[in-house]
Amino acid sequence: MEWHEATCFLNGQWRPLGEATISVLDRGFIFGDGVYEVIPVDTLDGIRAPFRAHEHFARLQRSCDSIGLANPYDEAKWLDLLDAIIERHPWPRQSVYLQVTRGVAKRDHAFPAGVPPTVFINTSPWAAIPAAQIEGGVAAVTHADERWLHCDIKSISLLGNVLMKQYATDHDAFETVMLRDGFLTEGSSANVMVIKDGCMLAPRQSHQILPGITCDTSYLLAKEHGLTLELRPVSEAEVRSADELWLSSSGREVLPITTLDGRPVGAGVPGPMYKRMWFWFQEAKRADARRWQARKSTGARGAMAA
Ligand code: PDD
Repeated sequence: MEWHEATCFLNGQWRPLGEATISVLDRGFIFGDGVYEVIPVDTLDGIRAPFRAHEHFARLQRSCDSIGLANPYDEAKWLDLLDAIIERHPWPRQSVYLQVTRGVAKRDHAFPAGVPPTVFINTSPWAAIPAAQIEGGVAAVTHADERWLHCDIKSISLLGNVLMKQYATDHDAFETVMLRDGFLTEGSSANVMVIKDGCMLAPRQSHQILPGITCDTSYLLAKEHGLTLELRPVSEAEVRSADELWLSSSGREVLPITTLDGRPVGAGVPGPMYKRMWFWFQEAKRADARRWQARKSTGARGAMAA
């Protein structure tokens, strides 16, 4: 099955992706008035499972709350829809995308009253992360963070992020590492972490960055394995003198950045801490897959334990 032959979920109905349509007056289209999630699905030890499903739906709830949008479903219903879309498709690795917008209404900035949200879910095959990126790292460039000040909301209004990803592409890089007032924020579509003298440094959660589920996982893993983790402002100088620099996202897991603005990061190759984190991360995926399987096999409805 090709990605465009997928079935999607739109406002309570399953449809072929190519036949799903929304109104041109949808506030997602007109204003970017909505929120989204991207949930990775992988097959490990024969179990096909989403990673950190509970955390994604908890963040979706926070995003909805932040923009005054009623979440149309509780977590149990979202988990059932997630399971259903995964099962409808043959791909062992999938990237599930879901978005909720403030629905269809005559164009007016203020929220419309009594309008149901638009709910869209689709999935596509998620290619393996290239071995060349895991073993050789990726290039990044820096740029001032010119986005708005609610980067903690997973908003579908992504123009600032799109421009920063294109900036990376235009400079033959994979990602743009953004700095605000001399301090690290994040990448265009990833969080960024610094390794310095055996210590992991990353910006503390604030309105300036997305609370990434992948970086949260790596913080947990770092703590579990006795690494020192400092969540605090990380200066540009610390970014530029890092022994290792990593990016993290649902689509890329954790990847090493080996050049920044054309200069090598540390030794210019993925560092020893990265190799350990990559291994721990795969173990975390296995453990999560077993939890997902347990939820399915007991038919347990309801939220998943964090
Ligand atoms: N992006 N920061 C930004 C700006 C992001 O867009 C993303 C993810 C992250 C990492 O979040 P997480 O680890 O929860 O995926 C950080 C998704 C994958 C996207 O927009 O496609």
